[in-house]
Amino acid sequence: MRNLYARSEILLSRARAVVPGGVSSGNRANWTPFPLYYTRGNGSRVWDVDRNEYIDYVLGRGPLILGHGEPEVIDAVCRQLRTGQFFAGQTEAEVELAELICTIVGNAEMVRFCNSGSEAIHACIRLARSATGREKVLRFTGHYHGWYDGIAWGFSGVNARNDGSSLPVPMSLGQPSSDALNIVAVEWNDPEAVTNALEKYRGEFAAIITEPIMFNGFWSNIQPFEGFLRFLREQCDANGALLVFDEVQTGFRISLGGAVEHFGVAADLSAFAKALSGGVCLAAFAGRKEVMKRLSETNTVHTGTYNAYPPAVVGALRHLTLLAASSAAKLQHVHHQTALLERGFRDLVTQTDLPLLIRASPGAVTTAFRTAPTHVISQCSAAEGLDFSLQRAWQLALQDRGVRITPEGLWYVSAAHSANDIAITLDAARDALQSLSS
Ligand SMILES: Cc1ncc(COP(=O)(O)O)c(C=O)c1O
Repeated sequence: MRNLYARSEILLSRARAVVPGGVSSGNRANWTPFPLYYTRGNGSRVWDVDRNEYIDYVLGRGPLILGHGEPEVIDAVCRQLRTGQFFAGQTEAEVELAELICTIVGNAEMVRFCNSGSEAIHACIRLARSATGREKVLRFTGHYHGWYDGIAWGFSGVNARNDGSSLPVPMSLGQPSSDALNIVAVEWNDPEAVTNALEKYRGEFAAIITEPIMFNGFWSNIQPFEGFLRFLREQCDANGALLVFDEVQTGFRISLGGAVEHFGVAADLSAFAKALSGGVCLAAFAGRKEVMKRLSETNTVHTGTYNAYPPAVVGALRHLTLLAASSAAKLQHVHHQTALLERGFRDLVTQTDLPLLIRASPGAVTTAFRTAPTHVISQCSAAEGLDFSLQRAWQLALQDRGVRITPEGLWYVSAAHSANDIAITLDAARDALQSLSS
């Protein structure tokens, strides 16, 4: 059989000699059969170096909510590169973008810009510690808040200790164990676990940080139980801690105003990246003025050579303006297409004997396979009872049929996805399922 990925394979073997794993972000190594190399993207499509064309549901892992190469965003970036690339000073567009975010996002009274979601989270936690004079952070197992040492604990759970207490598991080798002492990780959607932690460490928490929808891990896309986010808000108020929403996934996707608008619960601080900027490298954190002002009025440091990089700022400004235009018509289209895709998958579930699972939020669908039909699926954690080898086979079977999804089975949808794209995708998915069950 013809190797569909021959040129990628050659590039990967060259890359592996000079780039660890051949990839520049660890999670890009997880693709089956191996990481591919790409040349072009346009609208809902991407092309790899072997000239295979895909309907893309990876979309840069979320940022490209208007699709690849939105012309107005690209024009704005190119114009800025030609007129003034970089000043390490301020631009008018930076003010406009901050004003626009404050208009769109309910809890945003002030904004600072940075370059990645990880950085934005890092800044939120520093601000929360500065504002409260406390050090501990309460977080949830399975939630991902970037890879920085201070917060990358408890992603895969906690280790029980002999004295009945527990310590969160580090995400990586190389993390200083002393950082674990400031992180308490408990199960998502479990109010009792939160209350117990707050009682145990009374007066010690600077912040509770949460993904408003649990978007990370395999079999993700878990909704908060009714009232859970409000419960966190109340617990923060009662305990003098700040509520931090990690809106890197939810921001400008599940609703134009993100989780604050969608769930009607205000965080003190929020981190944004991905759909904020439409594929230019920009992130932000925002929140209550009283807290944010600490960056200018106290010795609470946030710096960065590339912060508010002008080409990224004008790109994001154009992107967000387009997303917000006409009562967020483009975002409504994204939600409509997501619902079409979800409905199509739910039909497929009735047509296959494979244990296909579906979850969806406005703007993204998750697919996974459970190991046994009787397995009870947790609404608190993302990875139990899943058939990872079937998941890998599904990602490859779809890729072979011209549909690109993340290895974790998260399908991001963009405004560039047409009804025809969704129909082609569902045909490919049906065919892929048949190939896997035969
Ligand atoms: C919820 C969440 N927070 C933080 C991050 C880290 O963002 P970045 O990869 O831009 O550093 C991610 C990345 O996927 C994320 O999903």
